Amino acid sequence: MSLAIILSRAQEGVAAPQVMVEVHLSGGLPGTHIVGLPEAAVREARDRVRVAIQSTAFEYPSRKVTVNLAPAELPKDGGRFDLAIALGILAAGGQVPRERLDACEFLGELALSGELRGVPGVLPALLRARARGRSIVVPRANASEAALVAGANVRVAGHLSEVCSWLRGGDDLPAPTPAIGVDDAPPLPDLADVRGQTKARRALEIAAVGGHHLLLVGPPGTGKTMLAERLPGILPPLGESEALESCAVRSVAGQRVDPGLWRRRPFRAPHHTASAVALVGGGSQPRPGEISLAHHGVLFLDELPEFSRHVLEVLREPLESGRIVISRAARQATFPAQFQLVAAMNPCPCGYAGDGQRTCRCTPDQIQRYRARISGPLLDRIDLVVDVPRVPLGELAAAPSEDSATVRARVLKARQHGLIRAGRANAEINPRELERDCALGAAERRWLEAALERLGLSARAYHRVLRVARSIADLDGGAPLLDRTHLAEALQYRRF
Ligand SMILES: Nc1ncnc2c1ncn2[C@@H]1O[C@H](COP(=O)(O)OP(=O)(O)O)[C@@H](O)[C@H]1O
Ligand SMILES: [Mg+2]
Repeated sequence: MSLAIILSRAQEGVAAPQVMVEVHLSGGLPGTHIVGLPEAAVREARDRVRVAIQSTAFEYPSRKVTVNLAPAELPKDGGRFDLAIALGILAAGGQVPRERLDACEFLGELALSGELRGVPGVLPALLRARARGRSIVVPRANASEAALVAGANVRVAGHLSEVCSWLRGGDDLPAPTPAIGVDDAPPLPDLADVRGQTKARRALEIAAVGGHHLLLVGPPGTGKTMLAERLPGILPPLGESEALESCAVRSVAGQRVDPGLWRRRPFRAPHHTASAVALVGGGSQPRPGEISLAHHGVLFLDELPEFSRHVLEVLREPLESGRIVISRAARQATFPAQFQLVAAMNPCPCGYAGDGQRTCRCTPDQIQRYRARISGPLLDRIDLVVDVPRVPLGELAAAPSEDSATVRARVLKARQHGLIRAGRANAEINPRELERDCALGAAERRWLEAALERLGLSARAYHRVLRVARSIADLDGGAPLLDRTHLAEALQYRRF
């Protein structure tokens, strides 16, 4: 029989749907046809595969070669199917035996020399292959991310000839070497470096407990960036499936997944000149943006009012849904985007409103317009707003503050309460669950309602205050009823 079928995987968002590479050899004019609506890149594969086969001391069939990539409607860009196509041609022509091909999937681009090149999106493909109980052969260049998936039957190869000699009954292809532990990773920035800022540090800790979005407001040089960078270090480490999800995004973005750092929460800090596509993803071959690269981690938007309005608008949907759907003409890709937002801004355009040392030169009107650049719906999603004032020189020289390990221990303990109660972070408590999870005594309810009325705050604000108070109460031992001290502190973090 001169038909061979080889399994491979396409890439669509962070999904890795199966692709069957069917190769048929027949009489007729010699030539190679690739069908199944492949894109230009797959047509180029024809030339790469032919030369790679010839360089590997095999014969390229002088018959009619028909390659069909099925199903037709999947995106089939890039060289990821080269290896599968080459093996299909060799198997159909009887140049390599088929026994080992059946239960195996193949991914990899071929260089003209026959060498295998790395491809993006190996991690999601591996996870699918594992779920189907198949083994998978991937390029050696992808070995470090391949090693992350425990229990996957992965083999790595550096050259087409290695794969062929294995198929011909030769030595087993090696498994990727396991990742080095997190312990070898360079340390994260530590909270011990941040002097003063007691209130902002407390807000950061509460944000870490509840997964609340946080806005830091203060003049330049007071430690806002320092604080934001220290949030990942007081959050719990990623669980295995969270880490794999977050690495899968990096994998499809074509970024290297560092085995020493893969359990760390991502921290992404796009510049305010970043385009909407860079931020949320897009492109004709949809690629993930910063919000997806920050999946299960922290997205830091410094100088929040400087981001374009359009860019801030497109953040709203993922902030609600935890994912982003990118639609392009004929296709759609979904990327996960559950991130914790930390934003920073100056109090006014010149940066010095309310600063003890320097005089602000902005008019009330300018200040008003500056703050209005951040839309209400975005602010509505930010549970905590805190001032980061200038630290007196004396405090800057003071002894080191509490370190991240100490704060993190408290955060982990407090987060347990939320996990036991609802299985998720307090920021995700929806209005229906508020009654149950943020219960108040009658006197406390009256007190809070009066306080909100006095401050002119909305019903939305009411929910936010309750969620933050819940996190404060969880730091305070996790009592089921919120008391007045929790509510009063939560009220302080409402500024707009
Ligand atoms: N509270 C602080 N404790 C220690 N160093 C600080 C503090 N605030 C500012 N600094 C110093 O000033 C630099 C700038 O701080 P940064 O966090 O970038 O300020 P901001 O983001 O508020 O403009 C830091 O690298 C650090 O050296
Ligand atoms: Mg800064």
